[in-house]
Amino acid sequence: MVQLSDLINNLPPYHFASAKKKIADRKAAGVDVISLSMGDPDLPAPRRVIERLCEAAQDTENHRYPEYFGMRALHEAFAAWFERRFDVRLTPERDILPLLGSKEGLAYVGAAVLNAGDISLIPDPYYPVYITGSTSVGAIPYMLPLREQNGYLPDLQSIPADVLAKARLLWLNYPNNPTAACADRAFFEYTVDFARQHNLVIIHDMAYAEVYFDDYRPMSILQVPGASEVAVELHSLSKTYNMAGFRVGMLVGNAELVNAVGRLKSNIDSGMFRPVQYAAIEALNMPASWLEERNAIYRRRRDLLFEGCNAIGMRAHKTTAGLYIWAAVPGGYTSRDFANWLFDTTGVFLTPGTNFGDAGEGYVRISMTAPEERIATALKRMKEALG
Ligand SMILES: Cc1ncc(COP(=O)(O)O)c(C=O)c1O
Repeated sequence: MVQLSDLINNLPPYHFASAKKKIADRKAAGVDVISLSMGDPDLPAPRRVIERLCEAAQDTENHRYPEYFGMRALHEAFAAWFERRFDVRLTPERDILPLLGSKEGLAYVGAAVLNAGDISLIPDPYYPVYITGSTSVGAIPYMLPLREQNGYLPDLQSIPADVLAKARLLWLNYPNNPTAACADRAFFEYTVDFARQHNLVIIHDMAYAEVYFDDYRPMSILQVPGASEVAVELHSLSKTYNMAGFRVGMLVGNAELVNAVGRLKSNIDSGMFRPVQYAAIEALNMPASWLEERNAIYRRRRDLLFEGCNAIGMRAHKTTAGLYIWAAVPGGYTSRDFANWLFDTTGVFLTPGTNFGDAGEGYVRISMTAPEERIATALKRMKEALG
């Protein structure tokens, strides 16, 4: 038997990897499973993006090793997109690093900032990589519970002075997964100020930047003047353009940190397949109407889930961005027991809030990544099961 490292021995299994297996097993047993579990867009990537990918794949020049830090044209397309969207000008080669999905970028930033024994400030519930991005380098997570009564914003004043003294990194994610909460300008301004005062780096995960409803538009932390002195932000084409399988993300903001992650990453991988980069450029130039139509589909699903959950006693707030409804579990159940019971009774698969940390107890996360008819069927089954 090989002797594995402490890193591996302490690594929990990735929840969604085991969830996929559970779903596949149940389907194989003949159950009509409705998974509202993963945030994996069911809608297709734009046709032009697919065509560009195929066209670029025909050019054998593109089969060679790509650029380590991404093509200049991709940096430029992302900078132009960012300026159109947030009115913030980035210097393409300096402030932007293409990633093989934002997930790897989260882990790399942890490794680029934290040393063993440092404290990493992690809001709870959280996207699991914030923990592994911290513990894999020996840093110690300090959890900041996100509470409904605080609008799921972390209470930075509650952090004890001795913790703050050892803290190096603060993770933020708005629009938030899993709570679907959003943060306003005042929060970002306050947090940037707080980071400056306490010598913290902020990593803002903005994977859900472009899934929004009604009149709401999520803001970038880089819109706060001076934020790039202390912050980096992660973007992703996975949810933005339904391109989760393409694996395209971007790290932007603090140039020193962008450069540091580039150094680390170029020692580990060899860049992004050029046809995927061309496809990403095509996506970043899609007309606004494409996004409006896509978000209108999600909005109808949101309305259905929001009304359906509240009607069966699963209190939920009306999400204005992101792919999820965060709903209270009916009385008497823990999150996990409820999700298991529901799956066994109805074939509807939701994610227990506790999969995202202890503070998720009492909630389930419901993903909008299924067609309206399937969501309606799921709600009908849930209503019947709950009596
Ligand atoms: C909050 C959050 N951050 C980051 C990611 C990673 O996205 P990707 O690696 O596909 O860019 C996800 C994916 O679900 C997410 O929910």
